[in-house]
Amino acid sequence: MTLKSIKYENGKLEVLDQLLLPVKSSYVNVLGVEDGWRVINKMQVRGAPAIAIVGCLSLAVELQREIFDDKKILRQEVEGKLNYLVSARPTAVNMKLAADDLISLVNDLDKDESVTAEGMKSRFVEAIEAMLQKDLADNEALSNAGAKVLLTHCQADGMLRLLTHCNTGSLATCGIGTALGVIRSLHSLGRLEHVYCTETRPYNQGARLTAYELVHEKIPSTLICDSMVAALMRSRNMSGVVVGADRVAANGDTANKIGTYQIAVLAKHHGVPFYVAAPMTSIDFSIPSGDHIVIEERPAREMTHIGEHQIAAAGINCWNPAFDVTPAHLITGIITEKGVFLPKELAQKRLDDTNGNR
Ligand code: MRU
Repeated sequence: MTLKSIKYENGKLEVLDQLLLPVKSSYVNVLGVEDGWRVINKMQVRGAPAIAIVGCLSLAVELQREIFDDKKILRQEVEGKLNYLVSARPTAVNMKLAADDLISLVNDLDKDESVTAEGMKSRFVEAIEAMLQKDLADNEALSNAGAKVLLTHCQADGMLRLLTHCNTGSLATCGIGTALGVIRSLHSLGRLEHVYCTETRPYNQGARLTAYELVHEKIPSTLICDSMVAALMRSRNMSGVVVGADRVAANGDTANKIGTYQIAVLAKHHGVPFYVAAPMTSIDFSIPSGDHIVIEERPAREMTHIGEHQIAAAGINCWNPAFDVTPAHLITGIITEKGVFLPKELAQKRLDDTNGNR
């Protein structure tokens, strides 16, 4: 059974506090948008799809406690609060795209004279609740598509040795995950020999969260430090790398957890295929390249301390970008719920979808 990072039932929202994992498993109540913003900003919940779903659900929870008789007031409240939620973390695009879709929904409902203010609220909340099921289904479709493409890179014995970075599993989504979902699929097909996960300094999503998920599901796995990737690729005959994404630009440049770019460079050097696994909700067709992606910088304390324990010399300057951008030319393929694309095919896919040729 996969771990549940988000619990939502009868208008009640709880998130698994990822700051306490793997030592303690405890849920935080999210009573509204302020709480939603805080749990995202503090990274009690993280991972691009989970950020969007928790942000939007926090608004759904809040709205369900209020009664509206004026559609304009509801529309303004929704728009202001969604934009506020987008500001909690800037790099992952999922929350921004969800906010844009929801704002256009309330604008349409506002114009529809057959819909009352309370009717508009119900339709809005339903649209948010539907995101949970969609993410679950997208995870499954993407994981199957990813397993299929990775199987083309098998070793002679039909098995795969993979590397992943950061956490892209059940803790970052509503389902089996993206890159970690691909790994889960391959394991259940009996075709995964071994997966290596990086620690993912400084926040340690790999050591704390991915390792936790892998151990929980008894997937054959080994933890390495971020600085061991070159040695791993030189000595362990790796079949591929699969990572997630926070924002993919129209040309395929991909922002993901800091350290992803150096892994892609090493993969190219060693001839190891490098895949990005991301739902379409992580693709930002409005920007032509990764140069337009805002990279979040996090507090120095995340580097100088582990919990309350100081590990760096007091007074040292720190630079702590949370993400980097991997250029499209280093990416073998982008795995989505709609299939696997070469980075350069993404923009065409978007055009085909817009023209209805799915
Ligand atoms: O800072 P985080 O932990 O939110 O960063 C998470 C990542 O970089 C993931 O790879 C990405 O969000 C995809 S999660 C399915």
